[in-house]
Amino acid sequence: MSDDSLSSHLHEMDLSPAAEFTAQANGTAQMYDDAEADHEGFWAAQARERLTWATDFEQTLDWSGAPFAKWYVGGTLNVAYNCVDRHVEAGHGDRVAIHFEGERGDTRTITYADLQKEVAKAANALESLGVSTGDRVAIYMPMIPETVFTMLACARIGAPHSVIFGGFSAEALHTRIADAEARVVVTTDGQWRRGKAAPLKAAVVAAIAHDDSPVEKVLVVKRTDSEVEWDDQRDVWWHDLVEAQSDTHEARPMDSEHPLFILYTSGTTGKPKGIFHTTGGYLTHAAYTNAVVHDLHPETDVYWCTADVGWVTGHSYIVYGPLANGATQVLYEGTPDSPHQGRWWEIVEKYKVSILYTAPTAIRTFMKWGADIPAKSDLSSIRVLGSVGEPINPEAWLWYRKHIGGDRAPIVDTWWQTETGAIMISPLPGVTTLEPGSAQRPIPGISAEILDDDGQPFTEPEKVGYLVLTKPWPGMLRGIWGDPDRYRETYWSRFGPKYYFAGDGAKYDAKGNIWLLGRVDDVMNVSGHRLSTAEIESALVSHPSVAEAAVVGAADETTGQAVCAFVILRGEAVDHGEETVQELRNHVAQEIGPIAKPRQIMIVPELPKTRSGKIMRRLLKDVAENREVGDVTTLADSSVMSLIQQGMSADSAD
Ligand code: PRX
Repeated sequence: MSDDSLSSHLHEMDLSPAAEFTAQANGTAQMYDDAEADHEGFWAAQARERLTWATDFEQTLDWSGAPFAKWYVGGTLNVAYNCVDRHVEAGHGDRVAIHFEGERGDTRTITYADLQKEVAKAANALESLGVSTGDRVAIYMPMIPETVFTMLACARIGAPHSVIFGGFSAEALHTRIADAEARVVVTTDGQWRRGKAAPLKAAVVAAIAHDDSPVEKVLVVKRTDSEVEWDDQRDVWWHDLVEAQSDTHEARPMDSEHPLFILYTSGTTGKPKGIFHTTGGYLTHAAYTNAVVHDLHPETDVYWCTADVGWVTGHSYIVYGPLANGATQVLYEGTPDSPHQGRWWEIVEKYKVSILYTAPTAIRTFMKWGADIPAKSDLSSIRVLGSVGEPINPEAWLWYRKHIGGDRAPIVDTWWQTETGAIMISPLPGVTTLEPGSAQRPIPGISAEILDDDGQPFTEPEKVGYLVLTKPWPGMLRGIWGDPDRYRETYWSRFGPKYYFAGDGAKYDAKGNIWLLGRVDDVMNVSGHRLSTAEIESALVSHPSVAEAAVVGAADETTGQAVCAFVILRGEAVDHGEETVQELRNHVAQEIGPIAKPRQIMIVPELPKTRSGKIMRRLLKDVAENREVGDVTTLADSSVMSLIQQGMSADSAD
């Protein structure tokens, strides 16, 4: 669609909420006023209404140690009790919690009563391995029910989990396990990918082969029946240990600020940050947003979030939010195109999914595959669509609405981060008149502003600035594991201690909607996955042939951004062309994981640097995006860019 026809199309559409939707919506316009009038009172009410506390809290927020927040001070609760047991006690034991859809078509239906038993057994098993409150447990698993059981079992005994996405390499796993000092790792023998078994435990074995590994025990679920290297002292099968446990377990209440999990995410330096979240505030924020933003009605909805539990979206919107709310949800193990490109839509039809939450990169991929594919399935059950992870372009928004949402389902474009714990900026379905491509406005209870370079807030339309959050919120990170200074510096110093700096560029439109414009720091967003340029650069320079490397995120039609690397080889290294490039790409996959593999690596004689030696990534981005190279006057050697460009055109002539 051309820009002109797109804008006239948008102009004609009525995107105000339908009266029938509004009549049943959990979110209301009144909530904005209530939260505005009494920020803490609003959040206190959410916590009491949505969660079951063992001891009520005495103080809603203690911000005296800013930027280190304490929410719901004095309160105690158990997260697993809130996500499982209380629903059984309320008579919903027979309600399906999880419709598991395996990659090869195997299925499993887990009710809340089943879930209660499974979590109890897993909690007993972890305790039998010596895990107690406060110990960290690493989870390196595919999208299977045991992963959810393990996370909830950890929460139940107050052992913070650190879930590491299955696409990360042994090296990445090692650094994360070491940083969190995890004593136990839970994994599987392998994982199914497009009908084939891929190893998983092998990476755990390699990760803990390091001398300083804190890991004492490895608990292994048999998923693919693959051969695995086994150490009788250290390794134990899930089916031996967990199945033999009692299916009851007492859930002890934890302090509201007890750490619930650590989740590593990429920052602007090479070392990933262990973002940590705590109990009461996080669960309140996850449950509240799942109820009002996704408009979840647990008695009638079938909810499906397609994220992997290895990312924050899977934590907040597969495990904690929906289960705290007593939802029935789909858990899918596989990829969208296995065994064919209509797999997701068959799943929607089969389970009558009513709320679907996914990422723009997936939507753009479906657009490429064609609208006739979803048209083969009955998608009429869908009533709410969500988007997360990166800006959704208006074309993709319209396609999603028309071909998946039957031209009727509201789309919630939800902006948030690993650090924010849960959704922060989003329309409320049934309340907001939608604006395709914009996340629109902070949800009730959240306050944001856009600042200029001098740190001054402004509201002028179309001017680009920096998104900041101006009030503490319950789901906010409580810090970076083991590194309080880095927490303060990264988030609370760019514009002074009053503003949480999100790292995203943003602008308002003439209607006052917020548009998120991507990262303003050296963090890339590739298919909704957060990657750091510095982390990939240090992976590249750890290769013996590489002297120096610079990485940029270049615009990509499907994945949002793609990793492009510029590499200078060492004097003694020989450039074998494509072979060298492949070797370097594989090296990055080994150091970080396949998700970080550069789309393109260009071997160059020099990198553009300022006189003070800083690499000018902006210029490299111009090259990677095939644009005319911008201003080179600040370069120490202005001929460098022509050298790089000559090399590029020689490459493309090959
Ligand atoms: O740049 C923003 C982008 O994703 C970043 C957060 O990444 P991560 O911590 O991995 O969490 C992703 C899932 C919550 C943000 O700083 N981002 C996330 N959602 C949106 C978005 N950008 C634009 N629009 C969104 N809806």
